[in-house]
Order: sequence, then C-alpha cells, then structure tokens
Amino acid sequence: MAGLVSSRDFLGALSRRIFPCTQYIRHHSTPYYTPEPDICHEMLGHIPMLANRDFSNLTQKFGEAAVGASDAEIDQLGRLYWYTVEFGVVRQSGELRAYGAGLLSSFGELENALSGKAEIRKFDPEVVRQIVYPITTYQPFLFEVSSIAEAFDRMSAFVEKMRAER
Ligand SMILES: [Fe+2]
Repeated sequence: MAGLVSSRDFLGALSRRIFPCTQYIRHHSTPYYTPEPDICHEMLGHIPMLANRDFSNLTQKFGEAAVGASDAEIDQLGRLYWYTVEFGVVRQSGELRAYGAGLLSSFGELENALSGKAEIRKFDPEVVRQIVYPITTYQPFLFEVSSIAEAFDRMSAFVEKMRAER
C-alpha cells in the first residue's frame, strides 16, 4: 500500500523490528538529492546499519519508547533520530565523517556537510530534541560525536530517561 507513514507509525514499526522502506527511486535528472527517502537511501544508508546487532537493538528501543508516547515525545524522538541515524557525523582522528543514512545516500548532502558549508555542533540530545529540522533543503547544521558508541550510548540513555519520566 502506498502512502505516507506518520512518525508514530514508523517508530511503532521499529518497536516490532520492522523497518518501513520506500520503493520510490529519485528521478535521474536530480541524482544528487531527493527530498523524499528513496530506495537508494534505504539500501545505501539504512540497511547496512541495521545489519549491526547493537544498532538494530537500539532501533527497536527507540521504537519501544514511541509506544504510548505523547505527540511532543514523538516529535523529540523524531528529531533525535534525524540528527543521528539520518544526519549524524563523527570526528575520528580529527577528520569529520558521516554515519547518518541521509548523508551516506546523498552525494550533494554529503558534500555540503563535509565541505564546511554546514555548521558542526557537539551532539547533545537535550539540545537536539528541541530543534525543528528542514526536510527539503541541505541541513544547515549537524551534530558530531567522537565515536558511534557515544551516539548509541547517549541515544539509549535519552530514551530510557524519557520512558522513566512518564
Ligand atoms: Fe531515512
């Protein structure tokens, strides 16, 4: 069935270890960027990460936090997901690298992010959860971690705290 999947439904599927994927493919006239996720994004960006056990477990945990969440909490989970799983960057040996699926699957977005055009900030879930992100332009700023493990640990702590405070 075609159609948009709400953030709540998307996250709910993650709680059941299901990752909703699109079958759409970007038009050949705009190969460097697509405003909507397409099959290149899913195959190049998300699927390799989901093959990692730690990441797939974290993904499920994220989804579980969305079950019974308020609309405001769904928004916060969506923002955290956006700035990590979709657009996360990591600084290794002084070099900025991408790990987010939205960067790994978009040549144009990747160039924008790593060429100094995007402002790079330190990742902080408490800040990220409040930021409304653009979905139809290159990202004006991104959040870096010092290791993928740091991203996973801080995301995990965030969702645990959110659930504990309910
Ligand atoms: Fe995505």
